[in-house]
Amino acid sequence: MKAVLAYSGGLDTSVILKLMQERLGAEVITVTVDVGQKDDFKAIEEKAYRFGALKHYHIDVKEEFAEKYVSQAIKANGLYEKAYPLAAALARPLIVEKLVDVAKKEGADVIAHGCTGKGNDQVRFNLGIQALSPETPIVQPVMEWELSRDWEMNYAKKHGMPVSEKIYSIDENIWGRSIEGGILEDPFAEPPEEIFEWTISPNFAPDEPEYVTIDFENGVPVALNGEPMELLDIVVKLNEIAGEHGVGRIDHIEDRTVGIKSREIYEAPAAVTLVKAHHDLEKLTLTKWVLEFKDMVDSKWSWLVYTGLWFEPLREALDAFINEVEKDVNGTVKVKFWKGNATVVGRESENALYSKELATYEKFSTFDQKLAKGFIDLFGMQSVLAYNLKTAQKVSNLEGVKTLVKKVS
Ligand code: ARG
Repeated sequence: MKAVLAYSGGLDTSVILKLMQERLGAEVITVTVDVGQKDDFKAIEEKAYRFGALKHYHIDVKEEFAEKYVSQAIKANGLYEKAYPLAAALARPLIVEKLVDVAKKEGADVIAHGCTGKGNDQVRFNLGIQALSPETPIVQPVMEWELSRDWEMNYAKKHGMPVSEKIYSIDENIWGRSIEGGILEDPFAEPPEEIFEWTISPNFAPDEPEYVTIDFENGVPVALNGEPMELLDIVVKLNEIAGEHGVGRIDHIEDRTVGIKSREIYEAPAAVTLVKAHHDLEKLTLTKWVLEFKDMVDSKWSWLVYTGLWFEPLREALDAFINEVEKDVNGTVKVKFWKGNATVVGRESENALYSKELATYEKFSTFDQKLAKGFIDLFGMQSVLAYNLKTAQKVSNLEGVKTLVKKVS
């Protein structure tokens, strides 16, 4: 049997790599997909061969991830439960695509991954594999063989595999870093400073604020501080700048797809900044009706991505809507970083629906105030009638209602 294994180089997938050879007699091809996790990929490759991999693939998809997935998340203001910028969720469909490519190329019989049976990633992996390669069986050893951490540690030691005592479960890519486990499982415990790697504590952030401008075209960032850049570079750079000001820490009670509530900590300096800036520009350039409707689309889109339904036709249909309305989201947003906050302090656009002539309180306004009166009467007619009717019933006096009906008719 030939197997393709999604390999991170961590304890789970290293044990699985060996166990699949041992228990299934499989020849295992390992695949590490580089979505921006700060790992030593050379060391991972060496490990893979040391633990018996037949062949190892290292696939750098950072650019593709930024161009096809992160860009769409920005356009959709992608936040699950209004908080989580979807970093891990967003990367899974692309990782699956690469796994399936290798499996097809190598004529593999099965695809394996190291997800537990408790998380979201198994849903994303399994549904992705089923969508792209319905004929390929999935092996999920941690769940199927009920591998526990202790058992894995023992096994690893017995087989001379180096193990590090990791307290936290970390997942990283350019769009964010997630930290779970250890003391964080107590939702009342404040996250210890040691878990953070991308962000400085706001306590120690510089006293001086820092400003950046971000240019958007069709809803996608195209320049930072006036300098045209690839999205990947903008994201990497903003992770740095915003992180130095303590921006992007998220502490969130999250509803997993399998029903569990979990306490999640994220660091996502660029994601927090870009989604905020983008949404601000939308408010300048889109009509109130589009904004109102898009809010529902955005939250549904985020839900689909989070729950592993990337391949669901609804996601593509929502993307079609999003891409259409984003044609108007062009302009520049000015963001101020200071002590843990990213604040939008300015925005401009050729597509701005904001008009100083209309909005100003100065004399020269072109807004005809006299029109407001009739508008207000008609706008609130039903609500005022209903309220008055109720009050009148209470005090058994219909006079007020009669007056009102007369007034608007
Ligand atoms: N809760 C996040 C999500 O479901 C992060 C998951 C991180 N994955 C991990 N294997 N630690 O998207």
